Amino acid sequence: MTQQTSKIPISSIILDEDIYPRKGIDHRRVGIFAENIRDGFRFDPIEVEQCPASPDLYRLLDGAHRWSAYKSTGVTEIEAVIKDLDGNDPLLYAAKKAIGPRQLSEDEAKDTARRAYTGNSSLSSADIGKAIGRSRQTVDVYIADLRAVNQMALDIKIFRMHRLGIPQDRISERLGLARTSFQYHLPKMPVLANSANGDLSRGFTVAQVAQKHGWTDPMVWSLALEGKNDHDRFKELGWGFNTWDKWEWNDCDKRFGDDWPGRIPAQLIAHILRCFSKPDDLILDPMAGGGVTPDTCLAMGRRCWAFDMMDRPETRPEIESWTWDISSDQGLLWPVSAKEKPGLIIFDPPYFDKKADSYDKKSISGLSRKAYLEFIEAFLVLLKLNVKKKTRLAFINADWRDFQNTPAIEEKYKGGILIDDYLDILKRTGWYHTHIIQAPMSSQRFNAGVVSAMQEKNILGVISRYVIILGQEC
Ligand SMILES: C[S@@+](CC[C@H](N)C(=O)[O-])C[C@H]1O[C@@H](n2cnc3c(N)ncnc32)[C@H](O)[C@@H]1O
Repeated sequence: MTQQTSKIPISSIILDEDIYPRKGIDHRRVGIFAENIRDGFRFDPIEVEQCPASPDLYRLLDGAHRWSAYKSTGVTEIEAVIKDLDGNDPLLYAAKKAIGPRQLSEDEAKDTARRAYTGNSSLSSADIGKAIGRSRQTVDVYIADLRAVNQMALDIKIFRMHRLGIPQDRISERLGLARTSFQYHLPKMPVLANSANGDLSRGFTVAQVAQKHGWTDPMVWSLALEGKNDHDRFKELGWGFNTWDKWEWNDCDKRFGDDWPGRIPAQLIAHILRCFSKPDDLILDPMAGGGVTPDTCLAMGRRCWAFDMMDRPETRPEIESWTWDISSDQGLLWPVSAKEKPGLIIFDPPYFDKKADSYDKKSISGLSRKAYLEFIEAFLVLLKLNVKKKTRLAFINADWRDFQNTPAIEEKYKGGILIDDYLDILKRTGWYHTHIIQAPMSSQRFNAGVVSAMQEKNILGVISRYVIILGQEC
């Protein structure tokens, strides 16, 4: 097969240690090559690929010694094949090339195998072995400890997703597992639970057990509180119950959910769960963000399917990747084909363009006011088509007014999106509210300087936020 070669500046090529399989350059070899070049010998072209981080540069795949030799003779351009590896592992490709002229040393082979596996744990020992010139069994030994840690991390993910009631086919797909290998992981789940339960019964705290086992706190809470009723769960978690329809907290409970733009307090989710769902109910969070809902569901003994456009398979495998896209050819689609339908939906969309800079470009926070409201309407219709008649909706939203530099007296009627705008759409789409609960955001997020500037101009900021509880019967 003929290969396209190009002349490229030597200065645009780098040796990227991350994909270099040898311990270092053999300077004696470079010296010999340099002499050969001066004597007029022409070497085969080197191989490079574009650097993923800086497309103006190329990184070496094959020919580090030839490249060094050309450089040392003062040549400015070098003949190279620019490869497109099409998703193949560059380190293993470079290793395969390197062992052509000389086998990797034991250290180099082991190190390359470990680095390749760390970068991509779905690589098989046989594939790694082929690239580095070692048997599958040898590679198994090289990476045994890494594989064990990886298996444990995988089991923990499966445990969490399984406990949240995500069906096996979706867990397998999300974690890149063959359906058959799932059967191998499932029997390990009770063992994982027993070991954490054992530590809890010996008096270790939830945080200590979580740290020891590499679990998240909410996973341990889900075991520690198993069998308790909601009232006792609240007590153990240190949450008071707000009896009235005003729920207010200054802080998010840091044990639940990630630091996320627009994060809501776990206490707020827990109140929704306690008042409007039962243990083991299936909860749906279509825009789950930092994962407060699934975390709180674990602590409150509810199952939860969560989705978000921001995909974090490593840290948040339970939040399945899904973009609700009204502009797609097929319109808004439902992400799952499961027979089971949620009993409660907790919908906490971006509050119009608030935090738009922090979310993905395709977030609905980037839409115009009109398009945003159209999305909300289409989404509420889609929900109705895909849930049970008895399913309730907890719609969380805040008043949006463009108050930034505008004294209250100058704000215009149609400038904002207020609770009545949402209530109109909700009614129009067949969602009828039973409760409007005030759940204001903390005013502490405004710093003192901003507050005093607002006071000078009579600006009225927004901290109003509502949890609107709805059903489908009027
Ligand atoms: C207000 S945040 C949710 C915060 C979450 N309740 C928490 O406490 O962490 C809104 C979320 O909606 C997601 N989002 C916005 N537009 C979306 C879309 N079209 N499809 C899926 N997710 C979207 C954003 O990525 C963001 O995480």
